[in-house]
Amino acid sequence: MAKTLIKGGTVVTATEVFCGDVLVEGERVEAVGRDLTGEAERSIDATDKLVIPGGIDVHTHLDMPFGGAFSVDDFETGTIAAAHGGTTTVVDFAIQERGKPLRHAWETWMAKAEGKATIDYGFHMIMSEHTRELEREMGDLVEEGVTSFKLFMAYPGVFYMDDGGIFRCMQRSGELGATICMHAENGIVIDVLVEQALARGETEPRYHALTRPPRAEAEATHRAIALAEMADVPVYIVHLSAAEALAEVSAARARGLDAFAETCPQYLFLSHDNYEEPGFEGAKYVMSPPLRDKAKQGELWRGLKTGDLQAISTDHCPFCFNEGKQLGRDDFSKIPNGAPGIETRMLLTFDGGVAAGRISLNRWVELTSTSPAKLFGLFPKKGTIAPGGDADIVVFDPAGRTTLSAETLHMNVDYNPYEGRVVRGAVDVVLSRGEVIVDGSSFSGSTGRGRYLPRKDRFARLTPLV
Ligand code: URP
Ligand code: ZN
Ligand code: ZN
Repeated sequence: MAKTLIKGGTVVTATEVFCGDVLVEGERVEAVGRDLTGEAERSIDATDKLVIPGGIDVHTHLDMPFGGAFSVDDFETGTIAAAHGGTTTVVDFAIQERGKPLRHAWETWMAKAEGKATIDYGFHMIMSEHTRELEREMGDLVEEGVTSFKLFMAYPGVFYMDDGGIFRCMQRSGELGATICMHAENGIVIDVLVEQALARGETEPRYHALTRPPRAEAEATHRAIALAEMADVPVYIVHLSAAEALAEVSAARARGLDAFAETCPQYLFLSHDNYEEPGFEGAKYVMSPPLRDKAKQGELWRGLKTGDLQAISTDHCPFCFNEGKQLGRDDFSKIPNGAPGIETRMLLTFDGGVAAGRISLNRWVELTSTSPAKLFGLFPKKGTIAPGGDADIVVFDPAGRTTLSAETLHMNVDYNPYEGRVVRGAVDVVLSRGEVIVDGSSFSGSTGRGRYLPRKDRFARLTPLV
């Protein structure tokens, strides 16, 4: 089997930082240590570079139908962009359509990814309704390696499920040892606020944010955790944006509950101010939950540092400004929700987290790779650099600089929310299962090389976290 020696870098895992080498044999890490010797077909000089586990993004929406449009990155363009940004695994969301079985959704998303994905991928399952039959079928999906179910307290008429349905799905998930991912916003109240805003003629993008107040997120977060406690199941709050919602997670964790949460770079580096950009520009930032006050971002950083937030993912769900987003030109509620981010997560969090002195190198690796791997049943195959694990490795240049721009990045979308921002750090080389797929600015992986990752571990709470 072909061997690759990554030499003389600073190897960073969630627990260690040391100067050393990584020997890769075939698809796996063979050895990690100092002054490793032996024949290797390929040698990568990592002097002055960081050698980190490939990023794991557990919240992406590739090729997703939503709000009258499709997210514009499919499993090919989206995973190429991910790789360029130092991410080597994604967990995407398959969507059960009302009236259709879960298996149909899983097979549909498997077909979207097969032959296209360039990095490894798994799936969560979005359940758009609760029925007895779907409840039974959840067990079959767990057998297929889909061990987490996303439910929505938002989007009435689309994905929204009432508390009874949520509670039943939670109970079943608990029986199966699966995890519940929750979109926590009070969609019923939000719909009233939206209707009232539109009746007053408030149609611009910023009203998207003003009709989705932080308390609507905090209330739903509180309720999701309470329902999960009664159903005896771990709950993972996705795309947490409001400090008020984080307070609910912190309180639950202080009580010893299995409540987990992720935030996303957009909530750390963009803010409500972006909705005030002129004309229709604010539509670029229409996502749910919305961007929040800059003054509250320190709270999210506190959560990331102390462990009340366990992961940073992207919620990558891009729609072009000149097409999809225009659906809501005269009515903010018709703007497809979502923004691009799959390629910029590792860079933004290195720059604004590590280089800015907010989190340590170890914590950066933990939040972007190790902890998501543990939470979603991928560890230790993914999420660390250790003998026997998949050789998903990023050689990262901490002294490099990267300009974030739609022109130069690889996401298939006509704008970038961080346009022109120069961040500290650059992705140099990316290996996925031992194969160099990114070398500098060129992509050398092949379309369709990515493999499905059936997730076997059950229950986030059984794996010790931070
Ligand atoms: O605005 C968002 N977040 N779009 C993607 C769908 C979701 O709710 O995660
Ligand atoms: Zn969501
Ligand atoms: Zn999402």
